[in-house]
Amino acid sequence: MMKTAKMVLDKDFRVGDVDNRIYGSFIEHLGRAVYGGIYEPDHPTADNDGFREDVLDLVRQLNVPIVRYPGGNFVSGFNWEDSVGPRAERPRRLDLAWRTVETNQMGVNEFADWAKKANTEVMMAVNLGTLGVDAARNLVEYCNHPGDSYWSDLRRKHGYEQPHKFKTWCLGNEMDGPWQIGHKTAEEYGRIALESGKVMKWVDPTIDLVACGSSNSKMPTFPEWEATVLEHTYDVADYISLHTYYGNRNDDTPNFLAKSLDMDNFIETVVSVCDYIKAKKRSKKTMMLSFDEWNVWFHSNEADRKMEPWQVAPPQLEDVYTHEDALLVGSLLLSLLRHADRVKVACLAQLVNVIAPIMTRNGGGAWAQTIFYPYMHASLYGRGTVLNPIIDSPVYDTKEFDAVPYLDSLAVYNEENDEITIFAVNRDLEHVLNLECDLRSFAGYTVAEHIVLENADLKAVNTEDNPNNVVPHNGGDAKLEAGTVTAGLPKASWNVIRLTK
Ligand code: AHR
Repeated sequence: MMKTAKMVLDKDFRVGDVDNRIYGSFIEHLGRAVYGGIYEPDHPTADNDGFREDVLDLVRQLNVPIVRYPGGNFVSGFNWEDSVGPRAERPRRLDLAWRTVETNQMGVNEFADWAKKANTEVMMAVNLGTLGVDAARNLVEYCNHPGDSYWSDLRRKHGYEQPHKFKTWCLGNEMDGPWQIGHKTAEEYGRIALESGKVMKWVDPTIDLVACGSSNSKMPTFPEWEATVLEHTYDVADYISLHTYYGNRNDDTPNFLAKSLDMDNFIETVVSVCDYIKAKKRSKKTMMLSFDEWNVWFHSNEADRKMEPWQVAPPQLEDVYTHEDALLVGSLLLSLLRHADRVKVACLAQLVNVIAPIMTRNGGGAWAQTIFYPYMHASLYGRGTVLNPIIDSPVYDTKEFDAVPYLDSLAVYNEENDEITIFAVNRDLEHVLNLECDLRSFAGYTVAEHIVLENADLKAVNTEDNPNNVVPHNGGDAKLEAGTVTAGLPKASWNVIRLTK
């Protein structure tokens, strides 16, 4: 049965400006993200620093503005001093978070070098699990202070004359989770985050700080955790973090594709808690959100349970993503954009090999997974102002969600370049969805292209031997006539309709 969804876009209906850091990502010392991912000195494409050029090329295609580092769970046991100075003197340590051996052959300075080559910024995390105030302030001094002090001079001695000037810093990671090394109660964490953040800003007042929110919205302490942590950190923190991962564990695709409604709800709840604390404190400041871990993650769970411990860079968390995963990633990006007024940073977790859009083989190729494409499209074309669409779509019910719109869509208006980009997911697995989009206040535009990511097989994947199995094409049928864009959105598809003057 043919279905139609209607949408209205207007210049004056705005959510807010997109902070480009919403297209951030994440590299943790975990699995083959670092070793065999971004760093492999023996690889045929390795540059003078040992960085894989084939991976750098793919990262640059994504135009990633910021990359969180070095964890994740790893950071809660990380002695940052192990990772700097002459490589031969760096210790091999047991990483208790992932039960592996960390060689420290790549560390803070090398990551700053890699980030420059990838045209990205570093979002640095401090260890508030086994370490605390002292190590945190020392790391800021080492990274950001120009010189003539113990830690900044040590950096200079290590060959880095200029400070790295890392701007955004995470105050630990997922400290609400019992799996975390040095897990804390909200009171304990709130205190240490406040005291660490305070002195980190005394060392460098230009930095921004992210306090840990809950590890996910199903945690028993959510959202009380946020309220308590913010009671302590409201004045010192600039952002509160959110993390979430989704999976299609019961092979119920209609329900899986609706999971972005859960993300919407999570964001809106955290915004409410932030505003409650703002009111309680009679504060003028509005707390912003850093959604610094989000993705699909479930395919690799079984294999990871069987992983032998204490290996160096084993293939952990290597999800091979399907076409339907790419559709949900598209919808999750739309959820972040829908909240562009409050979500200022977000990190697709992660970037290479570990639940990642980019995969590699040690000594072999690098290729783009299915989820690479919606992420790249949003990052390239989703910069500007998010327009608040009025949508009238047919809906369906699932096990977890009622009234799920078949059409998931919004538009980003780039006023400077006179461009409007409509992003749309058709969640209908059986039928084309006709889109009718009234452009009312926008005159003089034409359809520049209608990119479509579709596949007859929802479980289709890309591999090293078949990297182009799931790739977008430019053959969408969108047209603009009499102020209305019409398009047939293929069943189970991700669409990017670009309008230019
Ligand atoms: O991204 C993988 C892991 O997921 C991170 O280390 C942790 O923060 C989260 O639980």
